[in-house]
Amino acid sequence: MTAPINPRDRLIVALDLPDLRAAEAMVDRLDDAVSFYKIGYQLAYAGGLPLARALKAAGKKVFVDLKLHDIGNTVGRGVESLAELGATFVTVHAYPQTMKAAVEARGQSKLKILAVTVLTSYDDADLQEAGYQLGVRDLVERRARQAQALGVNGLVCSPEEAGHLRQLLGPDILLVTPGIRPAGSSADDQKRIMTPARAIAAGANYLVVGRPVIGADDPKSAAAAIVEEIAAAAG
Ligand code: C5P
Repeated sequence: MTAPINPRDRLIVALDLPDLRAAEAMVDRLDDAVSFYKIGYQLAYAGGLPLARALKAAGKKVFVDLKLHDIGNTVGRGVESLAELGATFVTVHAYPQTMKAAVEARGQSKLKILAVTVLTSYDDADLQEAGYQLGVRDLVERRARQAQALGVNGLVCSPEEAGHLRQLLGPDILLVTPGIRPAGSSADDQKRIMTPARAIAAGANYLVVGRPVIGADDPKSAAAAIVEEIAAAAG
């Protein structure tokens, strides 16, 4: 069983912001309410990756969500660079070669590899169109089992999948869930949402939250309220 995580460290705030300056301003506003940040495509490709090093130096953790997928050698060298940057989590697509290369390159560093099984924007028809014979549920299961067998640390999944994956894979695999909406907040473009409390009860270890925090009038209070909800649900 993985050790209990401090409730504040279970909230990962997605810095889905257009540039470094906006991201730094948000980190300042959130202050000590948030200890873990996600840097994705938008910010990383707008010069935001160096923020990872600065956040690490400030005692924060960083999830680099670049969903790597390339030949093994390229994935491995990329993972080495991200380990050197001080990232805590990095995402890769759940293809066996890719996962194997990432796990090998992680080496003794503290970087943990998270696999994305099937993107949540895909349904069975999308998979068929892309040439797959399995539907979403079967492909998620197959890739989740492969990820675990290859030594991947965790999976990114929708909160609805979390309960099933927890049952399938046991207590040790990390489950990281986006699609989180505190009761009463806007769903935005997320279709399958869950409150923080329900996602924790379903077995999620970490919750990724973007707009309900960074788009709030008072981001710091919004983050603090989610952490309280996590703490209450985790008991
Ligand atoms: O603003 P919101 O809370 O919807 O942001 C969720 C974050 O999680 C975004 O950075 C988004 O890219 C990411 N994500 C997601 N759904 C997935 C995988 C990642 O919303 N299936």
